[in-house]
Amino acid sequence: MQKMTMLKKVATRKYPEQVVLVTTKSRKGKMNAMAVGWVAIASGDPMMFVLGIDDGAYTHELIRQTKEFVVAYPGEKMAAQVLYVGKNHGHARDKIKECGMKIQKAAKIRAPLVADAVANFECKLVDVFQPGDCPLVVGKVVAVHENRSPAVKRLYTVGPGHTMGSVRIKNG
Ligand SMILES: Cc1cc2nc3c(=O)[nH]c(=O)nc-3n(C[C@H](O)[C@H](O)[C@H](O)COP(=O)(O)O)c2cc1C
Repeated sequence: MQKMTMLKKVATRKYPEQVVLVTTKSRKGKMNAMAVGWVAIASGDPMMFVLGIDDGAYTHELIRQTKEFVVAYPGEKMAAQVLYVGKNHGHARDKIKECGMKIQKAAKIRAPLVADAVANFECKLVDVFQPGDCPLVVGKVVAVHENRSPAVKRLYTVGPGHTMGSVRIKNG
């Protein structure tokens, strides 16, 4: 049975929410990473992701500038790094270096791969549109990479620790 309630209250019940990392590299060579929970597959063939990326994020600026980015599924030991890049903006700092995130060169784009991730998807920007308060970024996958160790499991979630858009959720 259901009872009508407030959006703010019911929104907390969506957790656990999956989390991915998005990496970028500026034209001048500065690399950055952020955490993204608002992510879905937008197309199977060709494979595309759609991600909600706030226009205040440095990542948003770099995606618009370079038209490319990497989506990475973090490994299970990466929770602290995911939270670090998800709670600090990269405009004036080198978050990747500060949190010790290991990176490696991608094959087809300049944004870096996350070395300890389960998988990395190199993406080229297809579109940015905004049906609501959050810009939605669509990227087409142009190359994929998997961790050499099949034992590395995916970090699926870091829990309800972030706030975004009109649905602002306190850390539970
Ligand atoms: C678990 C988690 C999930 C997040 N999901 C999103 C998201 O879907 N979209 C978004 O714009 N920000 C999200 N954030 C917040 C960004 O990661 C955060 O604003 C980050 O500092 C942006 O980094 P940047 O300015 O260097 O790009 C999330 C943060 C965390 C910790």
